[in-house]
Amino acid sequence: CGIVGYVGGQSAQDVVVAGLKRLEYRGYDSAGVAVLADGGLAAAKKAGKLVNLEKELGDRPLPAGRTGIGHTRWATHGAPNDVNAHPHLDNAGRVAVVHNGIIENFAALRRELTGRGHALESETDTEVVAHLLAEAFSAGGDLADAMRQVCRRLEGAFTLVAVHADQPDVVVGARRNSPLVVGVGDEEWFLASDVAAFIAHTRSAIELGQDQVVELSREGVTVTGFDGAPADVREYHVDWDASAAEKGGYASFMLKEIADQPQAVSDTLLGRVDGEGSLHLDEVRIPDAELREVDKVVIVACGTAFHAGMIAKYAIEHWTRLPCETELASEFRYRDPILDQRTLVIAISQSGETMDTLMALRHAREQGAKVLAICNTNGSTIPRESDAVLYTHAGPEVAVASTKAFLTQLVACYLVALYLGQLRGTKWGDEIRTVVRQLSAISGEVDRVLETMEPVRELARSLAHHDTVLFLGRHVGYPVALEGALKLKELAYMHAEGFAAGELKHGPIALIEEGLPVVVIVPSPRGRSVLHDKIVSNIQEIRARGARTIVVAEEGDEAVVPYADHLITVPATPTLLQPLVATVPLQVFACELATARGNEVDQPRNLAKSVTVE
Ligand code: G6P
Repeated sequence: CGIVGYVGGQSAQDVVVAGLKRLEYRGYDSAGVAVLADGGLAAAKKAGKLVNLEKELGDRPLPAGRTGIGHTRWATHGAPNDVNAHPHLDNAGRVAVVHNGIIENFAALRRELTGRGHALESETDTEVVAHLLAEAFSAGGDLADAMRQVCRRLEGAFTLVAVHADQPDVVVGARRNSPLVVGVGDEEWFLASDVAAFIAHTRSAIELGQDQVVELSREGVTVTGFDGAPADVREYHVDWDASAAEKGGYASFMLKEIADQPQAVSDTLLGRVDGEGSLHLDEVRIPDAELREVDKVVIVACGTAFHAGMIAKYAIEHWTRLPCETELASEFRYRDPILDQRTLVIAISQSGETMDTLMALRHAREQGAKVLAICNTNGSTIPRESDAVLYTHAGPEVAVASTKAFLTQLVACYLVALYLGQLRGTKWGDEIRTVVRQLSAISGEVDRVLETMEPVRELARSLAHHDTVLFLGRHVGYPVALEGALKLKELAYMHAEGFAAGELKHGPIALIEEGLPVVVIVPSPRGRSVLHDKIVSNIQEIRARGARTIVVAEEGDEAVVPYADHLITVPATPTLLQPLVATVPLQVFACELATARGNEVDQPRNLAKSVTVE
């Protein structure tokens, strides 16, 4: 979910709604806003996307106020309807609360409140907080005190932001696990799940720590722990600008972000490799001596970031000779993994807020492992809780389906793998220089891929009526196949599956029938030719059974030509780096196919950009 709070001189409704627009990628099941005005509290909320709320506010504007809060929801408890939309109010309509996360003991709290005569209207876990806050407030003290008392009773992960009609210039927020950032403007203050919500107003931000309560008032910002002890605050400068988050003339954020990829890749290399091909990763704060002791690498991530992690495994094992496992973050801690001080855990996350990944890294640190985050969002929770971080410099990624963040995650993983190889002496001087040079050339190659995408778009449009598309790959082409299938599921709502090409004969080949589109990622014929030849045989096997083959292969790879119903060529790259170019046509393919099916690509149904619940 996305949360916004505001105290200042502008119209609270306008600031909050504009902020919510920037946060809509965090969920768009419903939206709501509450403002304090004329000694009272007024709220509006609507199921569905923010436009529905905007329309409601257009028809029935709230009274003008300068303090307000808002919410855009990704439903966890209760259907995405008007009643369950946030903000939630107490019975007297004096308190309004918005919430991100899950309050695990809400059922017990709800029983307790009903027992005391409270009438709860929604099915949400959030509404109990409005009632508890109203009770605590009327017992004396101020809203911040009431918030601290209530938070001490809540279990689970949550971010809360509240206002009370009796404190007209105050917004109070509380944070456990889910993100919350303060924006400090000129005589105005903001609270939001993400800096994007207030970047048009200020670039000064304060990170809130775990279990902290913040009060924004006309006097400024006060932060304490849940116990009331004052907390230190550290202001920092946000280096993203507002225009970076705009579409820049493209029909969708996704198209813009696909086009941003060459830049994102070179920005992620910037300052970390030099013209001579040497690596500079001094920002990784885990001492070299400790990294030399590492005897196992475990990568945890979700979704697209997990596919980057799968590719990283091939690079890390090949270049460092360290055993490396890649695991879905949501599975990791529940299987009691074997970790110790010599394990390096790499947590990959674009947002830095994915709860599954955060929980996995916490578990890893509890077991004594060192954690390196690969993350795109400065100051987010995952890097803050890790021993070290390597930021990807993709810039803000707004479309829900990840594209440019994925490519930069791959670049960061390759850099880490090379760095570990250098430290361990398994990869030296000239070899590293060669790979660094190849990596540095890749952004130009991605550019070239983007220039040749028209036939891919045409093909996508011609397949819009199909129900199923399969993807096959071997080696690093296998995670690329999984990523191609994921993009198609996310955007086109089609049944799409990725398989290891060699595994096909053990079952999935039964799915092949006349005319079924199958995308095959073919590795370079140079280098590991065995790999290449095996997959050419796989293409023949499926074609013999009627598949319509869509082959992604290196330029000049003549061996695939006779078996490709459609050929998509990508520039020649070393096998390990091929995902950087081979993924791009699959992104374009999914985006175009989804558009042809009439889907909205930036905000696919049921998804959220950053999932901050487990
Ligand atoms: C969500 C998004 C995916 C993303 C995944 C991991 O499910 O819809 O696109 O890959 O989270 O996100 P992260 O921010 O941790 O990379």
